[in-house]
This record gives sequence, structure tokens and C-alpha cells, in this order.
Amino acid sequence: MATTPVRRDGLFPPQNVVVTGGAGYIGSHLVDRLAEDGHQVTVLDDLSAGHAAYLAPRLRAGQARLVTGSILDPDLVGRELRTADTVFHLAAAVGVRRIVTEPLRSLRTNLIGTENVLHACADHGCRVVLASSSEVYGKLPRLPMSESGDRVLGPTTVPRWSYAAAKAVDEHLAFAYAAQGLRVSVVRYFNSYGPRLDRAGDASVVAVFVRHALAGEPIPVHGDGQQTRCFTYVADTVRGTVLAAAVPEAQGQVFNIGSATETAIAALAELVAQAAGSTVPAERISYEAAYGPRFEDITRRIPDISRARDVLGWEPQIPLEEGLKRTIAWWGENDA
Ligand SMILES: NC(=O)c1ccc[n+]([C@@H]2O[C@H](COP(=O)([O-])OP(=O)(O)OC[C@H]3O[C@@H](n4cnc5c(N)ncnc54)[C@H](O)[C@@H]3O)[C@@H](O)[C@H]2O)c1
Repeated sequence: MATTPVRRDGLFPPQNVVVTGGAGYIGSHLVDRLAEDGHQVTVLDDLSAGHAAYLAPRLRAGQARLVTGSILDPDLVGRELRTADTVFHLAAAVGVRRIVTEPLRSLRTNLIGTENVLHACADHGCRVVLASSSEVYGKLPRLPMSESGDRVLGPTTVPRWSYAAAKAVDEHLAFAYAAQGLRVSVVRYFNSYGPRLDRAGDASVVAVFVRHALAGEPIPVHGDGQQTRCFTYVADTVRGTVLAAAVPEAQGQVFNIGSATETAIAALAELVAQAAGSTVPAERISYEAAYGPRFEDITRRIPDISRARDVLGWEPQIPLEEGLKRTIAWWGENDA
């Protein structure tokens, strides 16, 4: 898959770093990487979706400390960020179902929580990397999706779009603070997957498919399964995130961090079944049955990664088949 050699390793001198949402799926992998690189890590997470257990080895080794609390508490955020050199802001309400079923709570977390974090970073002069999402592009028909291109969102009466709208406002906020001197970069993740995905939840289609395949149940494919995504292994997601902090030219820029390989959901179901050793045929489910009326899915989503390549020296390294193998191995080792 890799054609261009990766230029940089993302190493930067040891610092005090804060990872909000650091007990979550991507956040905990980021904490591992930062601790391995010699940084002293503070995790700020309310554990609403995260797991302290993911941090246990780092906590025991004194490489990280966990502050259990919410980014909705501005005093706590201000206190914990006071001594930080770099902040990775990942805490968010994540997942289409959570957004659809808890729209107000999700919006408050993703808007007010982010404002609290950016405000504290601006106050204390921290460098910040903001985790955004490919969702901000919405149903943009023009592919691949470029950071400087337009976005197309649906109506405000459909809760699904509130996540994309909130993440886009977060980006606007970041650049408004940048105009006043904040050193900030934005990373837009495209369908990250890997070990520590929420095994019981449905925020990730990979997790849902693996769960069903390992249980010997039909894999549920929504619609005709021809909708596509670009699945990105978590080590690649994390490397892009660290590079966004480490590379000085990244400041003030937005980066797509996602695989450029498009995979149809029906094809993903087959790959997962194969990797999990399941022969049970997939099952087609209508969007309405899955999410209720007025749900809109996005047909295709492909990142233009030329900016990440040029500025960060980043490109994905782990092919989907290999990433699925590692994810399923972790699932087996951590059988609940
Ligand atoms: N997983 C993906 O493919 C993907 C894609 C696009 C964007 N993202 C973004 O990446 C970031 C991490 O996502 P993830 O997939 O690891 O999800 P996750 O749910 O595993 O992680 C989010 C973490 O934030 C914490 N959190 C939630 N509300 C909080 C609050 N009020 N205060 C403190 N902590 C809080 C949760 O407990 C959890 O540990 C999020 O900002 C998400 O929007 C993820």
C-alpha cells in the first residue's frame, strides 16, 4: 500500500501532554504511543465511554495519570491544562446512535466541552491538536474529500447531522482562537478501527461485524451494502495525530487522516467473516429498521490525503486484512 516513504517519525522532545478522552478507543492508543515516546501524560476523561483498564500499565509505570472528570467543567479543565505543553483533544460524544438518541448531551459535550478545552489552551499557551471527523464533509458528492473543499450537510431537524455540525463549529472555534495566537492543528479521522473498539456498541461498523461473526450470527449489512468507507487502522490514526503535533508546519492546518482505499460495506462483511472464520451469510437490514425514519447515510467517503502526505509525511501503512486480523486477535484475547 505504501508508495511514498514516511519522512518523519513524529518524535518531539519529552513534554507534559494532556489527552482528553484518553481512556477511549483512539485516546488510549495515543496515550500508549506518547508514553513510549517519553512524554508525561495526563488523561482527562469522564469514563462515560472510556475504560481506566486500558491505561493501567501506563498508570502503574508512572507514565500517565488519570483525572476522572468532564470537559464540561471549565475549572477542572483550566486546572489540568495549566502545566500542559501540548493537548490532544479527543473527548467527545461519539457514534451515530449516541448522537441520534442523546442529541442534547452530545451537542453540549462536543460544543461546550471543546470551547472549554480551547479556551484553557489559549489561556495557558498550549499547543493543541483537535480531533475532528470525516463526518464534517457530510454527503459531499465530490470525491476525494479535500480539506479545503466544500461540505454538504442535511437539515437541522435530522439529529444525525448535529455531530458533523458540532465538529465543524469546533474547527471554526479552533481557528478563531488561532487568529488570537493559539497554536492548533485539526485532524479529521476517517473510520478508525482496531483493538479496544467498543465491543458491545455500534459506533464502529467493524466492531459490529466482528461481534456478530465471532458469535456465529449473520453480519447485519444496512441497505444494499454498496455504501463505502475508508477504514484506517488505529496505529495509523495515532501516528497521524502525533505528527500533527510534532511537525511545525502543521500549525494552523486541517488534515485528513484516513486510508485512501475504498471498501464497500458488503465487502467488509465478507472480509470480517473470512478473518473470523465464519461461514454464516450476511443479513440485509433497511436503514429505517436500524435507525428509524429519516435517517440518511453517506454513500461514499474517500479522503484526499495529499496534504497529510506532503506536510506530515504521513500515509497509512496497515492494510485492512492485516488490521482486521489484529483486531480479531485482540477480541479473542479479551473475551468478556
Ligand atoms: N473512531 C473513529 O473512527 C472516529 C472518526 C472520526 C472522529 N473521531 C473522533 O476521535 C475522538 C476519539 O473517538 P473514539 O472513537 O476514540 O471514541 P471513544 O468514545 O472511545 O472516546 C471518547 C472518549 O471521550 C470521553 N468523554 C466523553 N465525554 C466526555 C466528557 N464530557 N468529558 C471527558 N471525557 C469525555 C469518553 O469517556 C471516551 O473515553 C473523538 O473526538 C471522535 O469524535 C473518531
